[in-house]
Amino acid sequence: MQVLFVASECAPFVKTGGLADVVGALPAALAREGIAVRVLLPAYPAVAAALEEAEPLMDLGRLFSGPARLVAGRVEGLDLIALEAPHLFERPGNPYLGPDGLDWPDNHLRFGALCQAASRLALSAPKGWRPDLVNAHDWQAALTPAYLTFSGKPAPPTLITIHNIAFQGLFPRKVASLLNLPSKGFTPEGYEFYGKVGFLKAGLVYAQAIATVSPSYARELRRPEFGMGLEGLLTARRAELTGILNGIDLTVWDPEHDPHIPARYGARRPERKAVNRKALAERFRLEPSDSAPLFCVISRMTRQKGLDLLLEALPRLLDTGASLALLGSGERDLEAAFSAAAKANPGRIGVVLGYDEVLSHLLQAGADSILVPSRFEPCGLTQLYGLRYGTLPVVARTGGLADSVIDANEAALAKGVATGFQFAPIEAGPLGDAIERAAALFAEPKAWRAMVRRAMRHPVGWDSSAARYAALFRELVQP
Ligand code: ADP
Ligand code: GLC
Repeated sequence: MQVLFVASECAPFVKTGGLADVVGALPAALAREGIAVRVLLPAYPAVAAALEEAEPLMDLGRLFSGPARLVAGRVEGLDLIALEAPHLFERPGNPYLGPDGLDWPDNHLRFGALCQAASRLALSAPKGWRPDLVNAHDWQAALTPAYLTFSGKPAPPTLITIHNIAFQGLFPRKVASLLNLPSKGFTPEGYEFYGKVGFLKAGLVYAQAIATVSPSYARELRRPEFGMGLEGLLTARRAELTGILNGIDLTVWDPEHDPHIPARYGARRPERKAVNRKALAERFRLEPSDSAPLFCVISRMTRQKGLDLLLEALPRLLDTGASLALLGSGERDLEAAFSAAAKANPGRIGVVLGYDEVLSHLLQAGADSILVPSRFEPCGLTQLYGLRYGTLPVVARTGGLADSVIDANEAALAKGVATGFQFAPIEAGPLGDAIERAAALFAEPKAWRAMVRRAMRHPVGWDSSAARYAALFRELVQP
């Protein structure tokens, strides 16, 4: 089976978050299921540079007042198709934001172009290649099912994957005609969302099926607290909505073969983490106690990620004797508050503001525990990396966090199945409680070590989830 992924990010070429990790890793896992995936991405400078040997695939003529074409090539084990449209994508840096830190004013055209290119590719079979199914990821790709539907031509079935419903791609009504969307679709049953054009809404309406990145999030999305206005639509389509937990790329995230950490280790020798802990402490100027955990955070700094709750819980974290290393960037007030906390607690709290892929590996390898206090989390990948690295996750009980970490409650401890700590409700008090529970267990080295080994052996690769995607694709292709 041939599948076309349409996405705005793909690791290792362009990444702002977990979407890139998933789009970059799932194709290899699907290949083992007999499914050949090609990934259509905008030819941002980083993608164009990686695709030096690309072959022309399809000329698109002019797309939103500039020349555009598709080129294809194989790089880093991925079959990429890049949309070359220099007037839209020849801009370095973050794929969504201009140098002023604001969304590019023409993002509707940039990602509308991506979707038009995807639909023309799926319909016209250039060089004899025609996908059996199109899987669009998040709002940037979500007009693809709409264009295919509006074309009126026989088209392959479509699946839209929701990685985060908080980002919907909403634009003023007037963009509909610029994007060649027929006005008859501008209704609540179509792509209209409270008077605006909703890219994600369109995908959720016009795709044959909807996937999201964990079973819990699939249920949460049908509730107003999580659905962000789309809960009604998702409830109506619940028979076509599936939650499949993300996996991780074990060729990139494996403490036994990680080139980015000073000491490699496996479940049989987790004590070698101590070498990485020391390197991490030096890098963050920490003097962590041996009898209390060194916690870490690797995160976008936004309200979603609940880092304000962590700020509130910091005194309790420090009271246990623990320390904290944080790597993140995002909202200025959160960045400032954590920097101030580091300044006020030298040797105990260390903060690096910015985005640093290599440093994130050292944090996973050197910390004892990773904190993920998200208010909502469709899947979350850092807790999965934490499991693999024996860095026991402390997580909010929501979405994929709830689905991937087994809480160290009495029953789970007695049965020997716990892999981390969950807390609910998602507030500073319960977060503080979970931090204290982790610190108390850390003070029992035998119990902690057993849990570290167990976490490291917990399956977090893509195999079982890729099999679920493959089954879903087959159902859609041969209903
Ligand atoms: P989200 O996609 O919502 O940000 P995920 O947990 O799914 O959350 O994925 C985040 C990805 O981005 C992970 O690979 C994580 O390691 C990475 N990441 C987040 N912040 C940083 C940072 N400041 N530096 C390096 N990597 C980061
Ligand atoms: C989104 C979500 C995150 C998820 C990632 C990959 O960015 O916020 O929870 O892990 O997509 O699916």
